[in-house]
Parts: sequence; C-alpha cells; structure tokens
Amino acid sequence: MIYRFPEKKSIPEKIIEQLEFLKKDVDLYAPERFRQYSTAPDPLALNILETFQKYNWNNIGMHTMKKVFARGTRKLEQEVIYMLGDLFGTQKVDGYVTQGGTEGNLMGLWLARNYLRAKTSEQNIVFLKTSLSHYSVSKAADILDMKKVIDVELNDKGGMSFQALEKIIREENALGAKNFILALTLGYNKTGTIDPVAEIDLTLGKLKKEIGIEYFVHLDAAIGGFIYPFSEGEPIGFMSSSIYSISLDMHKTGFMPHTAGIFLCRKGLIEYIARPAHYLLGNKIDATVSSSRSGVVAAACWGIIKNLGREGFTERVKHCFELRDFLISLLKEKGISFRYTGNKNMNVVVFEFYSLPDMRLPKDIERKYGLIRVSLPKESIGLSFGYAFVFMPHISKEALHGFVAELCRI
Ligand SMILES: Cc1ncc(COP(=O)(O)O)c(C=O)c1O
Repeated sequence: MIYRFPEKKSIPEKIIEQLEFLKKDVDLYAPERFRQYSTAPDPLALNILETFQKYNWNNIGMHTMKKVFARGTRKLEQEVIYMLGDLFGTQKVDGYVTQGGTEGNLMGLWLARNYLRAKTSEQNIVFLKTSLSHYSVSKAADILDMKKVIDVELNDKGGMSFQALEKIIREENALGAKNFILALTLGYNKTGTIDPVAEIDLTLGKLKKEIGIEYFVHLDAAIGGFIYPFSEGEPIGFMSSSIYSISLDMHKTGFMPHTAGIFLCRKGLIEYIARPAHYLLGNKIDATVSSSRSGVVAAACWGIIKNLGREGFTERVKHCFELRDFLISLLKEKGISFRYTGNKNMNVVVFEFYSLPDMRLPKDIERKYGLIRVSLPKESIGLSFGYAFVFMPHISKEALHGFVAELCRI
C-alpha cells in the first residue's frame, strides 16, 4: 500500500467518520487485561483535558526555576512538581511534566552526566544499572554516549546487590574511574521488584569517604511512583542523599491518559543543563528535553493529585493489592502448582505455573488475558520464566476467577 499526501481537501465530517473505527477496535482496560502498565484514565482527567483544551497554553520552559513568574497552567505545573517533591521527601525540587517515563529517564541521566563532568572535570563516567532496568535507561546511555555501561548483579530479592555494587565501584576506581551514575528502579516492570535504595545510599556514602568517588543516582519510578508511596513500604526518595533525580509516570497509576510523566530533581542542579532561549517569556531559559509542552496536561495532572490526595491514591493502591492477594489465594485454594515473586508493596507479580505443560499457557489464554511469558534472572529470583501480572483497578475478581477456572481445565 502506498500512502500519498492528499491532493484534495476532505470535509471534517468525513474525517471523523473515518476515525470511528478507533472506538471499536480498541478494547483497552477490559477487566481481563492482566498485564497493562496503564489503566483506565480517571474521568476527571478526561474532563479537564476536554474542557480546557481550548485554553491549552504552551508550557515550554521549567516553571520551578528561580526568577520565573508562573501563571495559568504554568502555575499549576509548578504546584504539581512541588506536591510530588513533597511526596518523595522534599519541597526543594525543580521539575516538569514530561511525556512519560522514558523522557524522565533521559532527563535524569543527561543531568547526571553534565553534573559529574562539571563537578570533577573528568569526562569518563561509569554507568551502572541492572539486567532488569527498563530499555529506556540503555537508550539514554546510548544517546548520552556513555562508553562504560555495567549491569550490577541482582540480589535474591530481584534488586541491585549493594555488595556487588561496592565490588564493581572499587574495581573501576582502581582502574582510574571516579564518576559513577546509577540508574535505580522503583518497580522493575518484569518482576515488580525494587532496588534497595537505603543500602545503596549508605554504600555510596561510605565509598565517597573512603576512596573519593563522585556519584549521581537517578531513580526510575515509572512503575512504582504512584504505588509504592501509598503502600506500607519504608519511604523511598529524596530522603536518601544520593538520589538526585526521579522519573514518574502519571499515565500509569497516576490515572492520566497517555502521555504524562513527571521529572523531579533536587534544586540547584538544573543549571547543568539549562540553555538560553531568547524567545521565551520570564527568565528566557529552557531546561527540559522536550521544549514545547502541553499546559492542559499539567492542569489535568494537578486536578488528579488534588482530587485523590494521599487518601484516594492509598484506596486505589489497596484495591490493586487486594486483587493481587485474591488471585494468589484462589490459585492456592484450587491446588494449582505455582511460584511467584514480587515485592509486597508493589502491584506487579510474576508467576510461574508448574502445572502447565512446559509451564506455558495455551496461546488463546495468553491472548485473552494479554499475558506474555518472559525470561527472568533465575539466579536472583529463582524463576527462569514467568508471566508478569500488573494488578490494576480495571481488573475484576470475576476475570481472575475465570482465569483460574481456565487454568484448572488445562
Ligand atoms: C520501569 C520503567 N521505566 C520506564 C518506562 C518508560 O515509560 P514510558 O513508556 O512512559 O516512556 C517504563 C514503561 O513501561 C517502565 O516500565
């Protein structure tokens, strides 16, 4: 099929009619979609986007920076950043509404590279992550031309081993490396596991004192950012002094439609990537990856956060955990032989079903529930393959029941 640029005009009604199929083809967020990393957007978010689209200002620039007088949607964006900074442990933050987790990761790692290069005038940087890190982390390392990228071993809980980290840093330091960027993850998407931020923080502090390294830790919280803070887990975020920046996704469990993410970093850092942009109002400086951005998306993020607050997010997260625990109990009750792993403060769990031939679900069941069998680091979590389930509010107990009934029939 060849697509040609249209020569003639077409009337708007015809265009809308041609798009009608979009309503039918998409079965997003059905109760049996067990592996969706996003969920049905909150009606309030849709309402704000529709109602205020006409007043959609370009939110270009970063509105938390010094000497910026923000109003309208820019003021709302500023408030979003401060409210989320507060959720992650400090009000002393800069940041902006990104288009998603990938942009937030690129932004954090770009800032990390420039900060370390400027601080130590040493160009070489060792970039540390794990084999479970999201591919956007490697993408950012590529864009930023990071020459040395190392996967640190995982511990037995599916997070970065701080002992292995210490060993690598000492070895690299002995070879002359001084600067280290770490991309940690709050909620790996395959396993729901998390990196032990507090232990890593202590390790880095100790190594800085002992061997004089410099570091910058970026936290990829695309999956856990709106789950973990509302669980019973020990707080994770800027309370650890090594965490310099965080990337969040509001189009996952922030109940925004695609696309909306958040980038946060400690105040005082943004100057390392800020650039003059003469045509901008205010301080005529931009410090974002994306430049022009949607004001109405920032307004919708603001509306969701104000509407739900900690109370509302906690209720929704509890509901996700109830769905997770319901499935686990049901599988046990029905005598299905299975293993699972994850973190009790996260809504992602990976299951391996031993009772199945080859431990594989039949293709039609995989398709029906949107499940994919993925390879896993067995040496860490004890599972070689598994099915990741993402427990989201759109999943119903009936659908989970139906799934277990189908498993029993295989
Ligand atoms: C852990 C993690 N980080 C980053 C991303 C990228 O987020 P986005 O697709 O919003 O760019 C994802 C996406 O699922 C993810 O799971």
